Amino acid sequence: MKTAIITGASSGLGREFALQLKANFPEVEQVWLIARRKPLLDELALALDVPAVSVPLDLTDDADLGALARKLSEENPDVTVLVNCAGCGYLGNVAETDPQLLSRMTDLNIRAMTLVTRAALPYMREGASVVNVSSIASFCPNARMTVYSSTKAYVSSFSLGLREELRARKIAVTAVCSGPMDTEFLEIGGIAGNSKMFKTLPYCDPRQVAAGSYAAVKADRAFYTPRVFFKLYRFLAKLLPSTIVVKLAKT
Ligand SMILES: NC(=O)c1ccc[n+]([C@@H]2O[C@H](COP(=O)([O-])OP(=O)(O)OC[C@H]3O[C@@H](n4cnc5c(N)ncnc54)[C@H](OP(=O)(O)O)[C@@H]3O)[C@@H](O)[C@H]2O)c1
Repeated sequence: MKTAIITGASSGLGREFALQLKANFPEVEQVWLIARRKPLLDELALALDVPAVSVPLDLTDDADLGALARKLSEENPDVTVLVNCAGCGYLGNVAETDPQLLSRMTDLNIRAMTLVTRAALPYMREGASVVNVSSIASFCPNARMTVYSSTKAYVSSFSLGLREELRARKIAVTAVCSGPMDTEFLEIGGIAGNSKMFKTLPYCDPRQVAAGSYAAVKADRAFYTPRVFFKLYRFLAKLLPSTIVVKLAKT
């Protein structure tokens, strides 16, 4: 059965990816919605125009990653779309941040994203799409969000390498480099009200980011960066020495 898998579907951008799935991939016959909060996944499943299955998993938990691998092997779906959207980012200097929060960022943003992709790939055929949610934070390290920005640099780098590996199989891979979005991410990460940078930057609308990301993966683009402001930042971050940009990019 033609299946989409969306991680981080219970809120924010991931929820938007689910809501816009059918309009962009009408061939999809079912979607697996992955996150920890089952009630939110169930509520979303009822609102979708495509049959949806709630798959409540903590992607930082090895047992849950194993459960996903088992579900894939038992159901043998034709995974036509994979959206790796689950992610978290905590504000604070490395030396002052709870080590558990540091490992939550690396476990979810790097390890889980990598292992979910690895688990899904054997079930993907020619024409399938992978959308990996990175961030503008991947362009240059952001002091006070050093671990978060480093995890997103991994997501962008991983996506570009994977895109090359999957070229022969005609599977498209796009990394999405959004600027700030007004989602639960800001509250959970202790960012809301505590970062001058987040107060100053223009915001991205998750609806537009989801729509633009789907358009980008269909056009086989390696990266999608919404808003001219952030496209310009991406360009400058490539052009200027990172030792200079890092001073301007403090969160
Ligand atoms: N908001 C921004 O400013 C911004 C900017 C650039 C990039 N991004 C990226 O956009 C992506 C989506 O974030 P968002 O802004 O939509 O924030 P969000 O509303 O907080 O969404 C995060 C999603 O990840 C899920 N999640 C968190 N921990 C999980 C775990 N251990 N296992 C499984 N799922 C987990 C959450 O669901 P549960 O809590 O139900 O598990 C939720 O569905 C993230 O990768 C983030 O890094 C965000």
